Amino acid sequence: MPVAPTIPLHRAESPVPGPPRLVELPNGTPVWLVTRYDEVHQVLTDPRFGRSPIHEPGTSPVVDSPSLLDSREAIGQQDGDAHLRLRRAVGRAFTPRSVEHMRPWVTAVVDGLLDGLVEKGSPADLVTDYALPLPCTVIHRLLAVDDVPIERLLHWAEHAFAESAAAREEGDRARCELTAFTAELITERRGTPGDDVVSSIVQAADGEGGIPEAALVNLIATMIVGGHDTTMTMLSNSLVYLLTEQPAAWARLGGDEQGAAVLTERLLHLIPLNDHEERPGRLLAATEDIRLGGMTIRSGEFVATDRVAANRDPEAFPGNPHADLFSPLPKPSLVFGAGRHYCLGTWLARAELQLALHRLAARLPALRLTLTADDIVWRRGTVSRSPLHLPAAW
Ligand code: HEM
Repeated sequence: MPVAPTIPLHRAESPVPGPPRLVELPNGTPVWLVTRYDEVHQVLTDPRFGRSPIHEPGTSPVVDSPSLLDSREAIGQQDGDAHLRLRRAVGRAFTPRSVEHMRPWVTAVVDGLLDGLVEKGSPADLVTDYALPLPCTVIHRLLAVDDVPIERLLHWAEHAFAESAAAREEGDRARCELTAFTAELITERRGTPGDDVVSSIVQAADGEGGIPEAALVNLIATMIVGGHDTTMTMLSNSLVYLLTEQPAAWARLGGDEQGAAVLTERLLHLIPLNDHEERPGRLLAATEDIRLGGMTIRSGEFVATDRVAANRDPEAFPGNPHADLFSPLPKPSLVFGAGRHYCLGTWLARAELQLALHRLAARLPALRLTLTADDIVWRRGTVSRSPLHLPAAW
């Protein structure tokens, strides 16, 4: 039987925003699905919704095939002081100001890749020649792991974030390797610190005290493999959208640097990272009875915050989201989360995406994909979905 083509992510369906409702995760765990902007925001910013209770002894696992992000040591699973200590350790590495300092060399990385594209000549693959090497080069240089073979890092990334139970054994093996590599890296940088982000996190964590080594290893491993995956996915999917459906925006983008920043925000808001079939969003647990959207969530019950549905909530974002990509959003998007766990890589991801999109459109205004959206082969089975290849010509 022919397999239906997977639609581009900006067209992927999400639940219609409404009051919290009880659903089941694929393994049968009941959760309250939260889909409206205000309520997703409320859950993410209300400390009475916790993450650590999900891992308390005796609680059944909420997912069958836990990824690196589901580990009880992961920063995203911590509450209170344990979480604050980890965030302080990452400290100033990715603040708006430190990212502003990185901008010239990120620009140089973008331009180097563009020179390579032009030199090689049309046609090219926008994933392997641009969207993938850009964030890999940036994060691997920042962490000073750029001497590790890229195939090895990509193999780990694919398995660290795997959501499907398929190839479980291989996934477990890859995660073990990544953990062992990271533990060794931490020991090495502790002994001989450099001016890289791993050294600065390790020093800050040791100075801070009280951070379990396993949590530090998970944090740095997540950055090694996660620092590129999200940005690569966003960039590839943004290119699919712009080049197949928004020719006028593409034409304007190259000549409008300020507009590129607004457009990037819109793209981040509009295009999900995945079609989240396995789980509907970040899971939290109520630590007391809490009123939410007219319902009572009982202490101990789970909620799943569907950021994709919330970002499409017409109450918060009225009008056609595809109509004017150069107008600022009326409210902050939830794409990077909200509250205490707000993404630490936000400013870096934004800078990379703005520069990559603006400079590519300026350099190659006649760029076009040489396949239709229906013919795209997708990378699937992890926390993100993106095209495996994007053949293009100019
Ligand atoms: C387009 C790119 C990205 C998107 C859409 C994204 C999205 C997110 C979201 C939604 C969260 C919070 C989830 C929650 O409530 O627990 C998060 C957390 C985080 N992100 Fe990102 N991210 C991106 C890029 C990056 C990059 C490049 C880095 C590394 C440099 C990074 C590092 C982190 C870290 C360390 C956390 C954990 C924060 C915490 O739990 O306190 N992210 N990200």
